[in-house]
Amino acid sequence: MSWQSLPKVELHLHFEGAAPPSFIRGLAKEKNVDLSKIFDENGGYRYENFDHFLEVYEAATSVLQTPEDFALLCDAVLEQSREQGVVYTETFLSPEFCGGADVAAWKEYLHAIEEAAARGEAQGITLKGCVTAIRHFGPDRAKKTAACAAETVGDFITGFGLAGAEMMGRPGDFAYSFDMAREAGLRLTAHAGEWGGPDMVADTIRDLKVERIGHGINAIKDASLVKQIAEQGITLEVCPGSNVFLNAVESWDKHPIQRLRDAGVNVTVSTDDPPFFHTTMTEEYNMLEKTFGWGEDDFREVNRVALNAAFCDSATKERIA
Ligand code: HPA
Ligand code: ZN
Repeated sequence: MSWQSLPKVELHLHFEGAAPPSFIRGLAKEKNVDLSKIFDENGGYRYENFDHFLEVYEAATSVLQTPEDFALLCDAVLEQSREQGVVYTETFLSPEFCGGADVAAWKEYLHAIEEAAARGEAQGITLKGCVTAIRHFGPDRAKKTAACAAETVGDFITGFGLAGAEMMGRPGDFAYSFDMAREAGLRLTAHAGEWGGPDMVADTIRDLKVERIGHGINAIKDASLVKQIAEQGITLEVCPGSNVFLNAVESWDKHPIQRLRDAGVNVTVSTDDPPFFHTTMTEEYNMLEKTFGWGEDDFREVNRVALNAAFCDSATKERIA
């Protein structure tokens, strides 16, 4: 069976990381920015490892300069997701890349993105934004990002998150920002346990009080933590193709997604940065079928779990279910 047309819910998608390479190349040409070193001979993104990926990511992002650039990116990302059968998606937006985490500038970028999201809605795909701080920019800049999030919480901006280089600092360094976001009414998620061990996941839950974890796969190394995650109903935004491509996990058959699910953890499936990791939602589903024998019932269940954990309001959930 082809899984392309199955209606899908995606919770973990980096907005700039979803940019098709051709889109970034087009903007680079238009703006006279030399980005040749970030592309390979086939026109895809080129990088050596996770840290280098983050550098290439930021280089690609440097050509996204105006609210209009972000609106066009939004059109391209939604078109790409719609082709994969995605009906609801949450995306990580970084005010750092939209005017340097200045509230007034951020509001202009956000306005343009929301207009594009409304165009997507008319085409059958719902988008919500999760404002995301970047760990390797440090806790002080995260506070500015949290202020941007708190100023724009609403129907579109429903969440606050943390991405970037996981091993820099500790989760508790960002507690101030997460407290600010929570008090403003935002729902919380943070990357943890992609590169860090179970301690990083446990500290993230304890210090940032998140209800979802980006990746979280290394929790599998601590059975009592897995039990805690299952009992607390914390949802993992698992991106298996990303993990295998970046060597966070050795191979698909060693991926812990099946074991986490068997342990009663709320497991969902996303692509992370699809063109960077040469994946799509359909490809993730194909590989889950091939590796673990997942079928239609499994995928429908995973999508129910994802919609339940989504940061939109219940009216939106009822409309999509
Ligand atoms: N992981 C962590 N940080 C990121 C990623 C990712 O896949 N993409 C963009 N920032
Ligand atoms: Zn991610």
